[in-house]
Amino acid sequence: MTGFADKTVLITGAAGGIGKVLSRTFAERGARIAALDKNDDVVDFVNSLVADGIQAAAAIADIGSKDEVSAAIASLRAELGSIDVLVNNAGFSGASNLETTDEDSWRNDINGNLNGAFNCTRPVLQDMKKSGRGAIVTIGSVNGTTALGDPAYSAAKAGLINYTKSLAMEYGRFGIRANVVSPGSVRTPIWDHRIEREPEIFKRLLKWYPLGRIAEPQDIANAVAFLASDQAAAISGAVLPVDCGLSAGNIAMAREITQLEF
Ligand SMILES: NC(=O)c1ccc[n+]([C@@H]2O[C@H](COP(=O)([O-])OP(=O)(O)OC[C@H]3O[C@@H](n4cnc5c(N)ncnc54)[C@H](O)[C@@H]3O)[C@@H](O)[C@H]2O)c1
Repeated sequence: MTGFADKTVLITGAAGGIGKVLSRTFAERGARIAALDKNDDVVDFVNSLVADGIQAAAAIADIGSKDEVSAAIASLRAELGSIDVLVNNAGFSGASNLETTDEDSWRNDINGNLNGAFNCTRPVLQDMKKSGRGAIVTIGSVNGTTALGDPAYSAAKAGLINYTKSLAMEYGRFGIRANVVSPGSVRTPIWDHRIEREPEIFKRLLKWYPLGRIAEPQDIANAVAFLASDQAAAISGAVLPVDCGLSAGNIAMAREITQLEF
């Protein structure tokens, strides 16, 4: 799979900022797009893909609900055939610090971000086992490997890394690969509530990024498409940061120690 002709790619969170670009990127490479989202905007989005000649279908489901996910994947499979590639992209962040994280918001973040990926992966593994191949790419976050706020979300993203490594271990014998892409900040609607409080937040965050910019949704989609393709045939269990250098080190400390201005 360098291109994705005759392949069905299931993308969760397909109506979101990164999800839409993921869908278009896989479609440009020949894939049929099975688009799942809890937001009914996914229907209009899929209509726009179909209007552009792309084979695509939509399903509305909350990935935190096993039953909704099972029904959604069954209907997508009926329309587009068995799933060859799964992109676990749906996600959201809730409370920004431990002080404001109560039991409900903790459970909600873990359910939507970690259990949701588990719910989506289980049914798809059956398809992939039957065909003897498959690729799963999960969108983690730099928050999964270091503490940057959003503690429940971050714990869920950390959990996704180990879940992915378990998938890579146990399902490699069926030709199934599993990897994580870890974005740094990307300007998408996930930030809207924070930008409302703090309109200048992206300007302030830039100083943490060695490349002097943040990633675009297309940067994330390019990395996901690579990991899902045969060009990454020997890569499984990996965590690939797509974060403009953020996780390379601690830039504030590096500036102090090197006494360089970067
Ligand atoms: N934007 C960033 O800065 C950033 C950074 C690191 C990781 N990520 C991750 O990238 C992924 C995509 O986020 P985005 O930036 O495009 O955000 P977004 O808010 O634009 O899109 C997320 C999409 O997922 C859907 N979704 C959320 N929870 C869902 C659920 N329980 N069931 C079904 N659909 C659900 C939303 O309806 C939305 O369409 C997420 O996993 C997010 O955690 C984003």
